Amino acid sequence: MREQIAERLDEARARTLALVDPLTDDDLHRQHDPLMSPIIWDLGHIAHFEELWLVRNLEGPVEFGEMPGMFNPFEHPRRVRGELQLPSLDECRDLMQEIRSRVLARMSEVRFDGDDPLLRDGYVYSMVLQHEYQHNETILQTMQLKQGMPYRAPRAYVIPRAPAIADRAAMVRFPGGRVRLGTDDRSAAYDNERPAHEVDVAPFSIDVFPVTNGAFMEFIRAGGYTRRDLWSDAGWAWLDEAMVDAPKYWMRDGDAWCTRVMDSVTPVDPNLAVCHVSYHEADAYARFAGKRLPTEQEWEVAAGWDSAANRMRAFPWGDEPATPERANVDQLSFAVAPIGAYAQNWSALGCYGMIGDVWEWTSSDFHKYPGYETFPYPEYSELFFGPEYKVLRGGSWATRSGVIRNSFRNWDYPIRRQIFSGLRCASDD
Ligand code: AVJ
Ligand code: FE
Repeated sequence: MREQIAERLDEARARTLALVDPLTDDDLHRQHDPLMSPIIWDLGHIAHFEELWLVRNLEGPVEFGEMPGMFNPFEHPRRVRGELQLPSLDECRDLMQEIRSRVLARMSEVRFDGDDPLLRDGYVYSMVLQHEYQHNETILQTMQLKQGMPYRAPRAYVIPRAPAIADRAAMVRFPGGRVRLGTDDRSAAYDNERPAHEVDVAPFSIDVFPVTNGAFMEFIRAGGYTRRDLWSDAGWAWLDEAMVDAPKYWMRDGDAWCTRVMDSVTPVDPNLAVCHVSYHEADAYARFAGKRLPTEQEWEVAAGWDSAANRMRAFPWGDEPATPERANVDQLSFAVAPIGAYAQNWSALGCYGMIGDVWEWTSSDFHKYPGYETFPYPEYSELFFGPEYKVLRGGSWATRSGVIRNSFRNWDYPIRRQIFSGLRCASDD
Protein backbone atom coordinates (compact mmCIF):
# COMPACT_ATOMS: atom_id res chain seq x y z
CA MET A 1 0.00 0.00 0.00
CA ARG A 2 2.80 2.40 0.89
CA GLU A 3 4.41 1.79 -2.48
CA GLN A 4 1.15 2.33 -4.31
CA ILE A 5 0.51 5.61 -2.49
CA ALA A 6 4.04 6.83 -3.17
CA GLU A 7 3.57 6.04 -6.87
CA ARG A 8 0.28 7.88 -7.00
CA LEU A 9 1.71 10.92 -5.25
CA ASP A 10 4.55 10.91 -7.72
CA GLU A 11 2.25 10.57 -10.71
CA ALA A 12 -0.02 13.39 -9.47
CA ARG A 13 2.95 15.71 -9.08
CA ALA A 14 4.37 14.83 -12.48
CA ARG A 15 1.02 15.76 -14.03
CA THR A 16 0.75 19.04 -12.14
CA LEU A 17 4.23 20.05 -13.24
CA ALA A 18 3.60 18.88 -16.82
CA LEU A 19 0.54 21.15 -17.03
CA VAL A 20 2.49 24.25 -16.03
CA ASP A 21 5.68 23.33 -17.87
CA PRO A 22 4.97 25.33 -21.05
CA LEU A 23 3.98 28.45 -19.08
CA THR A 24 6.19 31.50 -18.64
CA ASP A 25 6.90 33.13 -15.31
CA ASP A 26 4.47 35.88 -16.25
CA ASP A 27 1.75 33.31 -17.11
CA LEU A 28 2.24 31.79 -13.67
CA HIS A 29 2.31 34.95 -11.57
CA ARG A 30 -0.29 37.10 -13.28
CA GLN A 31 -3.84 37.24 -12.02
CA HIS A 32 -5.52 36.51 -15.36
CA ASP A 33 -9.02 36.94 -14.06
CA PRO A 34 -10.56 37.99 -10.72
CA LEU A 35 -12.23 34.57 -10.58
CA MET A 36 -9.01 32.60 -10.50
CA SER A 37 -5.77 32.58 -8.52
CA PRO A 38 -2.42 33.13 -10.18
CA ILE A 39 -1.39 29.58 -11.09
CA ILE A 40 1.68 29.75 -8.86
CA TRP A 41 -0.71 30.15 -5.91
CA ASP A 42 -2.33 26.80 -6.74
CA LEU A 43 1.11 25.18 -6.70
CA GLY A 44 2.04 26.58 -3.29
CA HIS A 45 -1.41 25.76 -1.95
CA ILE A 46 -1.15 22.14 -3.18
CA ALA A 47 2.18 21.81 -1.35
CA HIS A 48 1.00 23.34 1.92
CA PHE A 49 -2.22 21.34 1.93
CA GLU A 50 -0.09 18.22 1.63
CA GLU A 51 2.17 19.32 4.45
CA LEU A 52 -0.79 20.12 6.68
CA TRP A 53 -2.38 16.69 6.32
CA LEU A 54 0.48 14.33 5.63
CA VAL A 55 3.12 15.77 7.95
CA ARG A 56 1.77 18.11 10.61
CA ASN A 57 -1.54 16.37 11.20
CA LEU A 58 0.21 13.04 11.69
CA GLU A 59 2.23 14.61 14.50
CA GLY A 60 -0.87 15.89 16.27
CA PRO A 61 -4.33 17.20 15.32
CA VAL A 62 -4.33 20.40 13.26
CA GLU A 63 -6.95 22.88 12.20
CA PHE A 64 -7.30 23.85 8.58
CA GLY A 65 -6.74 27.46 9.69
CA GLU A 66 -3.14 26.57 10.51
CA MET A 67 -2.26 26.51 6.86
CA PRO A 68 0.24 29.34 6.22
CA GLY A 69 -1.53 32.63 5.54
CA MET A 70 -0.37 33.23 1.99
CA PHE A 71 -1.76 29.89 0.80
CA ASN A 72 -4.80 29.73 3.04
CA PRO A 73 -7.79 30.15 0.74
CA PHE A 74 -9.93 31.72 3.45
CA GLU A 75 -7.45 34.49 4.30
CA HIS A 76 -7.12 35.76 0.75
CA PRO A 77 -9.99 35.50 -1.71
CA ARG A 78 -9.00 34.56 -5.24
CA ARG A 79 -9.38 38.07 -6.66
CA VAL A 80 -6.61 39.53 -4.42
CA ARG A 81 -4.11 36.69 -4.72
CA GLY A 82 -2.29 38.51 -7.52
CA GLU A 83 -1.11 41.07 -4.93
CA LEU A 84 0.61 38.50 -2.72
CA GLN A 85 4.41 38.18 -2.74
CA LEU A 86 4.24 34.76 -4.32
CA PRO A 87 7.36 32.60 -4.72
CA SER A 88 9.08 31.91 -8.03
CA LEU A 89 8.48 28.63 -9.85
CA ASP A 90 11.89 27.34 -8.73
CA GLU A 91 11.11 28.19 -5.11
CA CYS A 92 7.75 26.49 -5.47
CA ARG A 93 9.24 23.32 -6.93
CA ASP A 94 11.82 23.22 -4.12
CA LEU A 95 9.06 23.66 -1.56
CA MET A 96 6.99 20.88 -3.13
CA GLN A 97 10.01 18.58 -3.21
CA GLU A 98 11.05 19.35 0.34
CA ILE A 99 7.55 18.73 1.69
CA ARG A 100 7.22 15.54 -0.36
CA SER A 101 10.40 14.07 1.09
CA ARG A 102 9.09 14.64 4.63
CA VAL A 103 5.73 13.12 3.62
CA LEU A 104 7.43 9.96 2.37
CA ALA A 105 9.67 9.71 5.44
CA ARG A 106 6.64 10.09 7.69
CA MET A 107 4.61 7.56 5.71
CA SER A 108 7.07 4.77 6.48
CA GLU A 109 5.94 4.97 10.13
CA VAL A 110 2.15 5.12 9.78
CA ARG A 111 -0.26 2.19 10.08
CA PHE A 112 -3.17 1.79 7.70
CA ASP A 113 -4.96 -0.92 9.68
CA GLY A 114 -5.52 0.85 13.01
CA ASP A 115 -8.60 2.67 14.33
CA ASP A 116 -7.77 6.16 13.07
CA PRO A 117 -10.31 6.81 10.27
CA LEU A 118 -7.90 9.31 8.71
CA LEU A 119 -5.22 6.68 8.19
CA ARG A 120 -7.39 3.65 7.75
CA ASP A 121 -7.10 2.33 4.17
CA GLY A 122 -4.95 5.37 3.41
CA TYR A 123 -7.88 7.83 3.47
CA VAL A 124 -5.87 10.96 4.19
CA TYR A 125 -3.44 10.18 1.36
CA SER A 126 -6.34 9.68 -1.00
CA MET A 127 -7.79 13.00 0.15
CA VAL A 128 -4.55 14.84 -0.53
CA LEU A 129 -4.24 13.20 -3.95
CA GLN A 130 -7.78 14.23 -4.86
CA HIS A 131 -7.02 17.76 -3.70
CA GLU A 132 -4.11 17.98 -6.12
CA TYR A 133 -6.25 16.47 -8.91
CA GLN A 134 -8.95 19.06 -8.31
CA HIS A 135 -6.47 21.90 -8.39
CA ASN A 136 -5.26 20.55 -11.75
CA GLU A 137 -8.70 21.29 -13.12
CA THR A 138 -8.63 24.73 -11.48
CA ILE A 139 -5.31 25.42 -13.20
CA LEU A 140 -6.81 24.36 -16.53
CA GLN A 141 -9.74 26.74 -16.00
CA THR A 142 -7.24 29.54 -15.46
CA MET A 143 -5.23 28.55 -18.54
CA GLN A 144 -8.40 28.49 -20.62
CA LEU A 145 -9.43 31.93 -19.34
CA LYS A 146 -6.31 33.56 -20.67
CA GLN A 147 -6.36 33.99 -24.40
CA GLY A 148 -3.73 31.91 -26.11
CA MET A 149 -2.15 30.12 -23.17
CA PRO A 150 0.07 27.42 -24.65
CA TYR A 151 -0.51 23.85 -23.64
CA ARG A 152 0.90 20.46 -24.39
CA ALA A 153 -1.03 17.24 -23.83
CA PRO A 154 0.62 15.28 -21.00
CA ARG A 155 0.90 12.31 -23.37
CA ALA A 156 -0.23 11.30 -26.84
CA TYR A 157 -3.94 10.53 -26.92
CA VAL A 158 -6.48 10.04 -29.68
CA ILE A 159 -10.22 10.45 -29.10
CA PRO A 160 -12.01 7.31 -30.39
CA ARG A 161 -14.13 7.66 -33.53
CA ALA A 162 -17.80 8.24 -32.80
CA PRO A 163 -20.63 6.36 -34.52
CA ALA A 164 -23.39 8.39 -36.21
CA ILE A 165 -26.16 9.20 -33.75
CA ALA A 166 -29.67 9.08 -35.19
CA ASP A 167 -31.62 10.77 -32.40
CA ARG A 168 -29.65 13.13 -30.20
CA ALA A 169 -32.73 14.18 -28.25
CA ALA A 170 -33.67 10.58 -27.31
CA MET A 171 -34.66 9.97 -23.70
CA VAL A 172 -34.79 6.93 -21.42
CA ARG A 173 -37.25 6.40 -18.61
CA PHE A 174 -36.85 5.43 -14.99
CA PRO A 175 -40.14 3.93 -13.86
CA GLY A 176 -39.77 5.17 -10.28
CA GLY A 177 -38.74 3.22 -7.22
CA ARG A 178 -36.65 2.99 -4.13
CA VAL A 179 -32.91 3.43 -4.74
CA ARG A 180 -29.77 3.73 -2.67
CA LEU A 181 -27.81 6.94 -3.28
CA GLY A 182 -24.50 8.20 -1.93
CA THR A 183 -21.91 5.88 -0.43
CA ASP A 184 -20.51 4.59 2.85
CA ASP A 185 -17.02 4.26 1.39
CA ARG A 186 -14.35 5.53 3.79
CA SER A 187 -11.29 4.89 1.66
CA ALA A 188 -11.74 7.70 -0.88
CA ALA A 189 -15.19 9.32 -0.86
CA TYR A 190 -15.59 12.85 0.50
CA ASP A 191 -17.78 13.49 3.53
CA ASN A 192 -20.47 15.12 1.36
CA GLU A 193 -20.97 11.81 -0.57
CA ARG A 194 -21.85 9.97 2.67
CA PRO A 195 -23.82 8.30 4.02
CA ALA A 196 -25.54 5.95 1.59
CA HIS A 197 -29.28 6.54 1.98
CA GLU A 198 -32.45 5.14 0.50
CA VAL A 199 -34.73 7.45 -1.43
CA ASP A 200 -38.02 7.00 -3.27
CA VAL A 201 -37.48 8.50 -6.69
CA ALA A 202 -40.54 9.40 -8.75
CA PRO A 203 -40.69 8.28 -12.40
CA PHE A 204 -38.74 10.53 -14.77
CA SER A 205 -37.21 10.58 -18.23
CA ILE A 206 -33.68 11.76 -18.94
CA ASP A 207 -31.72 12.52 -22.10
CA VAL A 208 -29.56 9.70 -23.40
CA PHE A 209 -26.91 12.27 -24.43
CA PRO A 210 -25.69 15.54 -23.02
CA VAL A 211 -27.00 18.62 -24.87
CA THR A 212 -24.80 19.23 -27.91
CA ASN A 213 -23.39 22.41 -29.43
CA GLY A 214 -25.70 21.79 -32.37
CA ALA A 215 -28.77 21.79 -30.13
CA PHE A 216 -27.52 24.85 -28.29
CA MET A 217 -27.07 26.71 -31.60
CA GLU A 218 -30.76 26.11 -32.28
CA PHE A 219 -31.55 27.73 -28.93
CA ILE A 220 -29.48 30.76 -29.93
CA ARG A 221 -30.99 30.93 -33.42
CA ALA A 222 -34.49 30.77 -31.93
CA GLY A 223 -33.70 33.87 -29.82
CA GLY A 224 -33.18 31.89 -26.64
CA TYR A 225 -31.08 34.64 -25.07
CA THR A 226 -33.78 37.25 -25.66
CA ARG A 227 -36.89 35.32 -24.65
CA ARG A 228 -37.88 36.31 -21.12
CA ASP A 229 -40.22 33.30 -20.80
CA LEU A 230 -37.29 30.87 -20.96
CA TRP A 231 -35.40 32.35 -18.01
CA SER A 232 -35.89 32.25 -14.26
CA ASP A 233 -35.96 35.65 -12.50
CA ALA A 234 -32.40 35.11 -11.23
CA GLY A 235 -31.31 33.94 -14.66
CA TRP A 236 -32.78 36.98 -16.38
CA ALA A 237 -31.14 39.32 -13.85
CA TRP A 238 -27.79 37.59 -14.51
CA LEU A 239 -28.27 37.88 -18.26
CA ASP A 240 -29.07 41.57 -17.91
CA GLU A 241 -25.74 42.11 -16.18
CA ALA A 242 -23.55 39.59 -17.99
CA MET A 243 -24.90 40.55 -21.44
CA VAL A 244 -23.87 37.25 -22.99
CA ASP A 245 -25.44 35.73 -26.09
CA ALA A 246 -23.56 32.42 -26.40
CA PRO A 247 -21.54 30.00 -24.26
CA LYS A 248 -18.27 31.42 -22.93
CA TYR A 249 -15.42 31.24 -25.47
CA TRP A 250 -17.76 31.22 -28.48
CA MET A 251 -17.14 33.90 -31.12
CA ARG A 252 -19.30 34.79 -34.09
CA ASP A 253 -17.77 34.02 -37.46
CA GLY A 254 -20.20 35.47 -40.00
CA ASP A 255 -23.28 33.31 -39.67
CA ALA A 256 -21.38 30.55 -37.91
CA TRP A 257 -19.62 30.14 -34.57
CA CYS A 258 -16.01 29.54 -33.62
CA THR A 259 -14.72 28.58 -30.23
CA ARG A 260 -11.39 28.71 -28.48
CA VAL A 261 -9.93 25.86 -26.42
CA MET A 262 -6.66 27.03 -24.86
CA ASP A 263 -4.68 28.39 -27.83
CA SER A 264 -6.64 26.71 -30.60
CA VAL A 265 -9.64 28.27 -32.37
CA THR A 266 -11.93 26.02 -34.40
CA PRO A 267 -15.50 26.10 -35.75
CA VAL A 268 -18.01 24.98 -33.12
CA ASP A 269 -18.58 21.25 -33.69
CA PRO A 270 -22.30 20.43 -33.46
CA ASN A 271 -21.56 16.85 -32.33
CA LEU A 272 -19.86 17.75 -29.06
CA ALA A 273 -21.53 18.35 -25.72
CA VAL A 274 -21.89 22.08 -25.12
CA CYS A 275 -19.36 23.39 -22.60
CA HIS A 276 -18.90 26.59 -20.56
CA VAL A 277 -22.53 27.40 -19.89
CA SER A 278 -23.82 28.73 -16.57
CA TYR A 279 -26.59 27.09 -14.59
CA HIS A 280 -28.90 29.85 -15.79
CA GLU A 281 -28.13 29.11 -19.44
CA ALA A 282 -28.58 25.38 -18.80
CA ASP A 283 -31.92 26.03 -17.11
CA ALA A 284 -33.11 28.29 -19.96
CA TYR A 285 -32.05 25.75 -22.57
CA ALA A 286 -33.97 22.98 -20.79
CA ARG A 287 -37.11 25.13 -20.76
CA PHE A 288 -36.61 25.86 -24.48
CA ALA A 289 -36.47 22.10 -25.11
CA GLY A 290 -39.72 21.62 -23.18
CA LYS A 291 -37.77 19.81 -20.46
CA ARG A 292 -36.03 20.64 -17.18
CA LEU A 293 -32.70 19.96 -15.50
CA PRO A 294 -32.47 16.68 -13.54
CA THR A 295 -32.19 16.74 -9.77
CA GLU A 296 -28.92 15.32 -8.51
CA GLN A 297 -30.84 12.27 -7.28
CA GLU A 298 -32.18 11.67 -10.78
CA TRP A 299 -28.71 12.19 -12.23
CA GLU A 300 -27.22 9.61 -9.89
CA VAL A 301 -29.97 7.09 -10.66
CA ALA A 302 -29.39 7.57 -14.39
CA ALA A 303 -25.62 7.20 -13.99
CA GLY A 304 -25.47 4.32 -11.57
CA TRP A 305 -28.65 2.54 -10.63
CA ASP A 306 -28.66 -1.06 -11.79
CA SER A 307 -32.32 -2.12 -11.52
CA ALA A 308 -31.62 -5.77 -12.35
CA ALA A 309 -29.11 -6.07 -9.52
CA ASN A 310 -30.96 -3.59 -7.28
CA ARG A 311 -27.70 -1.76 -6.53
CA MET A 312 -25.75 1.37 -7.30
CA ARG A 313 -22.70 1.08 -9.53
CA ALA A 314 -19.67 3.19 -8.69
CA PHE A 315 -19.32 4.16 -12.37
CA PRO A 316 -21.79 4.08 -15.27
CA TRP A 317 -20.20 0.97 -16.84
CA GLY A 318 -19.72 -0.91 -13.57
CA ASP A 319 -17.35 -0.77 -10.63
CA GLU A 320 -14.02 -0.42 -12.48
CA PRO A 321 -12.55 3.08 -12.18
CA ALA A 322 -12.58 5.72 -14.89
CA THR A 323 -9.76 5.55 -17.43
CA PRO A 324 -9.14 7.57 -20.61
CA GLU A 325 -10.18 4.45 -22.54
CA ARG A 326 -13.61 4.32 -20.89
CA ALA A 327 -14.39 8.04 -20.83
CA ASN A 328 -13.07 11.43 -21.83
CA VAL A 329 -11.25 12.22 -18.58
CA ASP A 330 -7.71 12.87 -17.39
CA GLN A 331 -6.81 16.03 -19.35
CA LEU A 332 -5.48 14.10 -22.33
CA SER A 333 -7.93 15.12 -25.07
CA PHE A 334 -7.85 18.87 -24.32
CA ALA A 335 -11.33 18.95 -25.82
CA VAL A 336 -14.86 17.64 -25.49
CA ALA A 337 -15.34 14.49 -27.60
CA PRO A 338 -18.15 13.80 -30.10
CA ILE A 339 -21.14 12.14 -28.41
CA GLY A 340 -21.01 8.36 -28.56
CA ALA A 341 -17.21 8.20 -28.95
CA TYR A 342 -16.59 6.03 -25.87
CA ALA A 343 -18.17 2.63 -26.48
CA GLN A 344 -18.07 1.60 -22.81
CA ASN A 345 -19.45 4.83 -21.42
CA TRP A 346 -23.07 3.71 -21.05
CA SER A 347 -25.07 3.36 -17.83
CA ALA A 348 -27.46 0.56 -16.92
CA LEU A 349 -30.44 2.86 -17.55
CA GLY A 350 -29.08 3.64 -21.04
CA CYS A 351 -27.46 7.05 -20.70
CA TYR A 352 -24.25 7.87 -22.56
CA GLY A 353 -21.32 9.85 -21.17
CA MET A 354 -22.43 10.58 -17.64
CA ILE A 355 -18.75 10.57 -16.65
CA GLY A 356 -16.28 12.71 -18.57
CA ASP A 357 -16.50 15.41 -21.30
CA VAL A 358 -18.44 18.06 -19.33
CA TRP A 359 -19.73 18.53 -15.80
CA GLU A 360 -23.50 18.46 -15.84
CA TRP A 361 -25.58 21.04 -13.98
CA THR A 362 -28.36 19.66 -11.83
CA SER A 363 -31.32 21.59 -10.41
CA SER A 364 -30.27 20.72 -6.85
CA ASP A 365 -28.80 23.08 -4.28
CA PHE A 366 -25.74 21.76 -2.45
CA HIS A 367 -27.08 20.29 0.80
CA LYS A 368 -25.88 17.69 3.27
CA TYR A 369 -27.30 14.19 3.02
CA PRO A 370 -29.39 12.91 5.96
CA GLY A 371 -26.92 11.62 8.55
CA TYR A 372 -24.00 13.67 7.17
CA GLU A 373 -20.96 13.97 9.42
CA THR A 374 -18.12 16.40 8.78
CA PHE A 375 -14.91 14.54 8.06
CA PRO A 376 -12.17 15.41 8.44
CA TYR A 377 -12.57 19.22 8.25
CA PRO A 378 -15.52 21.57 7.76
CA GLU A 379 -13.77 23.73 5.17
CA TYR A 380 -14.14 21.16 2.40
CA SER A 381 -17.94 20.72 2.31
CA GLU A 382 -19.78 21.97 5.36
CA LEU A 383 -18.95 25.64 4.87
CA PHE A 384 -20.50 25.52 1.41
CA PHE A 385 -23.79 23.75 2.12
CA GLY A 386 -26.71 26.00 1.30
CA PRO A 387 -28.88 27.41 -1.46
CA GLU A 388 -26.20 29.61 -3.07
CA TYR A 389 -24.54 26.66 -4.79
CA LYS A 390 -25.83 24.28 -7.44
CA VAL A 391 -24.56 20.71 -7.71
CA LEU A 392 -22.71 19.53 -10.81
CA ARG A 393 -22.02 15.87 -11.54
CA GLY A 394 -19.92 13.62 -13.72
CA GLY A 395 -16.56 15.34 -14.28
CA SER A 396 -15.13 16.78 -17.49
CA TRP A 397 -12.25 16.09 -19.87
CA ALA A 398 -10.18 18.23 -17.47
CA THR A 399 -10.99 16.05 -14.44
CA ARG A 400 -8.40 13.52 -13.31
CA SER A 401 -9.76 9.98 -13.31
CA GLY A 402 -8.88 9.58 -9.62
CA VAL A 403 -11.41 12.19 -8.53
CA ILE A 404 -14.56 11.23 -10.41
CA ARG A 405 -17.23 8.60 -9.67
CA ASN A 406 -21.03 8.45 -9.73
CA SER A 407 -21.29 9.64 -6.13
CA PHE A 408 -18.92 12.61 -6.53
CA ARG A 409 -20.55 16.01 -5.97
CA ASN A 410 -19.14 19.24 -7.32
CA TRP A 411 -20.77 22.61 -6.67
CA ASP A 412 -20.53 26.17 -7.89
CA TYR A 413 -22.46 29.42 -8.16
CA PRO A 414 -25.21 29.31 -10.80
CA ILE A 415 -23.58 32.19 -12.70
CA ARG A 416 -20.22 30.45 -13.23
CA ARG A 417 -19.12 29.34 -16.67
CA GLN A 418 -15.34 29.29 -16.64
CA ILE A 419 -15.83 25.73 -15.37
CA PHE A 420 -16.11 22.89 -17.90
CA SER A 421 -19.87 22.73 -17.53
CA GLY A 422 -22.70 21.54 -19.74
CA LEU A 423 -26.01 19.79 -19.15
CA ARG A 424 -28.45 17.08 -20.02
CA CYS A 425 -32.21 17.47 -19.69
CA ALA A 426 -34.87 15.50 -17.87
CA SER A 427 -38.65 15.57 -17.71
CA ASP A 428 -41.49 14.19 -15.60
CA ASP A 429 -43.11 12.41 -18.49
C1 AVJ B 1 -15.20 20.88 -5.04
C2 AVJ B 1 -14.27 22.01 -6.94
C3 AVJ B 1 -15.84 23.14 -5.50
O1 AVJ B 1 -12.28 24.09 -6.05
O2 AVJ B 1 -13.52 25.03 -4.56
C4 AVJ B 1 -10.10 22.47 -3.79
C5 AVJ B 1 -12.43 21.72 -4.56
N1 AVJ B 1 -11.61 22.30 -2.25
N2 AVJ B 1 -9.55 22.81 -2.62
C6 AVJ B 1 -13.08 24.03 -5.11
C7 AVJ B 1 -11.39 22.15 -3.57
C8 AVJ B 1 -10.44 22.71 -1.68
C9 AVJ B 1 -13.60 22.68 -4.65
N3 AVJ B 1 -14.71 22.18 -5.52
FE1 FE C 1 -7.65 23.70 -2.27
